[in-house]
Amino acid sequence: MGQIRDLFIPRRPPAAKYDQIRLDRTKIHEGHLILVNRQHPVKQSGTGPNLLPVSAVQAVQLPGAEISLEKTCLERLGALLHACRARDRIVIVSGYRSKKEQEELYETSLQENGAVFTASYVARPGESEHQTGLAVDVGENAGDVDFICPSFPDYGVCQTFKQLAAEYGFIQRYKADKEHITHIACEPWHFRYVGYPHSAIIEQRGFSLEEYTEFLKQYTFDRGHLFMETDRSLIEIYYVPAEQGTTAVPVNPAARNNLSGNNQNGFVVTAFHPKGSEDRGR
Ligand code: DAL
Ligand code: ZN
Repeated sequence: MGQIRDLFIPRRPPAAKYDQIRLDRTKIHEGHLILVNRQHPVKQSGTGPNLLPVSAVQAVQLPGAEISLEKTCLERLGALLHACRARDRIVIVSGYRSKKEQEELYETSLQENGAVFTASYVARPGESEHQTGLAVDVGENAGDVDFICPSFPDYGVCQTFKQLAAEYGFIQRYKADKEHITHIACEPWHFRYVGYPHSAIIEQRGFSLEEYTEFLKQYTFDRGHLFMETDRSLIEIYYVPAEQGTTAVPVNPAARNNLSGNNQNGFVVTAFHPKGSEDRGR
């Protein structure tokens, strides 16, 4: 995993080196870094997430299930399962859920498990990360698998999966020490795709996604960018607050740029510069 260091740029990077991508404000609700919780419900527009069936990669699904995930999330999950030699020993329990499916799960859980359990382990309809296709529940493929709380222990192949997850862009979204922030109980089985290097920064600094979303707001385009160095590339991250109508998001054409909304009030640009590149926007 790459070393993270903060390098504040003392002056605004030369404007001429940057192109501008114009994004409508509605785009803040799309992308791999969207924060979805009680305060920030799912607001993806149009056709919704770009979904692929889990059968497109080599992975075991819960019998009878036809699970789908957002395209990049699924590709990285397939690579992660391959890396930990876990294809047969980890079962995909749940992925994308429509709002209707989340409603049904929530109602069934209320009836069968009661209000306290349901509030702890099932997001209210409209507020579940599963509706984005970026969340996946995984379980140990051993006997009966609980749909809401699958077993995903801290040993064996499940432990390997947890250790490698950040390298592949995944975080354990709901941790025990963050319950007061997420308002969801610890869920060792629920992984959220945010993309690398965000997953690595969140893991190394012990952030919840709520805390990371706030943390990134200090790295505005004008004030200073966050840099992370890996063996292969220099990665630059900055935040661009959204305007009311259209926002001109600056991007360096020499880099490979990933843009995401935060589902709150702005956009995060992640620029991958090839190692040795002279043009880093400085
Ligand atoms: N289990 C998580 C909180 C969900 O229902 O989205
Ligand atoms: Zn889940």
